[in-house]
Amino acid sequence: MQFTEEKFARHMRPINGSAIREIFKLLARPGMISFAGGNPSNTALEPEVISELSGKVLSQYGTTLLQYGATDGFGPFRESAAAFLNTEGVKCDASQVLPVQGGSQAFDLLLKALVDPGDVVLCESPTFLGAIQAMREYNARLVAMPTDENGVIVEAAEALIKEHHPKLMYVIPTFQNPTGITLSLERRKALAALASQYGVVIAEDDPYRDLRYSGEPLPPIQSFDEEGWVVYMSSFSKYIAPGMRLGAAAVTNPPLLRKMVIGKQSADVHSPLLNQAIVDAYLRAGLMPAHLARICGDYKKQLDAMLDGFKCFPAGTKHTLPQGGLFVWSELPEGVDGLKAFEAAVEAGVAFVPGTHFYPDGGHLNTLRLNFSMCDIPTIEEGMRRLGKVISEMRS
Ligand SMILES: Cc1ncc(COP(=O)(O)O)c(C=O)c1O
Repeated sequence: MQFTEEKFARHMRPINGSAIREIFKLLARPGMISFAGGNPSNTALEPEVISELSGKVLSQYGTTLLQYGATDGFGPFRESAAAFLNTEGVKCDASQVLPVQGGSQAFDLLLKALVDPGDVVLCESPTFLGAIQAMREYNARLVAMPTDENGVIVEAAEALIKEHHPKLMYVIPTFQNPTGITLSLERRKALAALASQYGVVIAEDDPYRDLRYSGEPLPPIQSFDEEGWVVYMSSFSKYIAPGMRLGAAAVTNPPLLRKMVIGKQSADVHSPLLNQAIVDAYLRAGLMPAHLARICGDYKKQLDAMLDGFKCFPAGTKHTLPQGGLFVWSELPEGVDGLKAFEAAVEAGVAFVPGTHFYPDGGHLNTLRLNFSMCDIPTIEEGMRRLGKVISEMRS
């Protein structure tokens, strides 16, 4: 008997995996310049430091790190993660920190805890592809909140809450993926107020917060939350190493934290103890500030080179001016199809992600997302020249 599509759960049938993963297959072509990914630079990774800390914690804790552990996390890591989150402005103590396998898992556990099939989840549009996929896997109905250059438009979000009565809103407030936009201070306060007024949980996904190259840091939405409606999702992927799959969720609502822990028991039992202990040692050794200062210095130069490269693009091209993060978002002159531009760009040896993939409802064909962290400056300059040429030729 043949294995047919009908064997799959109904909600999984239309889900074909991340467009970016498909694009990655093209990147192996020789000479290809990639603005498509969202990885930290390899030069930001510190194998020697991780190796040293790994040896240290294994000598310190021995077999404890190699045994099964508690689902709610490794105690010392919960303490140091709470202290780290407190410095970010997040209000939590160690007992409210859930170590997770990246921010992705925090969101997955929230969806698992809250969302019934058909439930509305409010999200930005465009938004992070991984989150779109996760919401679809739980059969959520995605409703897009209008945004502008200061992030989610609060009045529009309130109208959607009144219309749809969602349990959950998903927001990436700082250097948003894919746009690079940051939610303003007033709107952070206002969203926290809406959450408690209407009883909506906000999933505040903030993995880029410390990759700031200019401007002043803003307090998290969670810092304005008095009642436990905002779940703050941090991650060490972009700061230390995505391969370690470690993040920390601050969940100050005890029943919600309990449900997420129960959801995690069946998902993976617990996050790897060795990785929790390594990141704990990293934070306790005070390595984070100097590390962030170094990588932000490099990323700023790469971002500036990319922004400068827009001079090669045809008149009428718009782009965001992010103060941090890993992405620049561009709107091509009306009528230029980003999907066709992608095909032509790959032929010319440069790749990006067509912006349409980040919209839950598709459309917006003239948009694209560019990542600058994985190329050195001469490569960014050359990639922007190639891309500008391709897009200029599509116009003429
Ligand atoms: C907005 C956003 N959230 C979450 C993630 C997932 O990161 P993690 O490695 O922490 O699961 C990413 C990764 O690109 C992201 O851009």
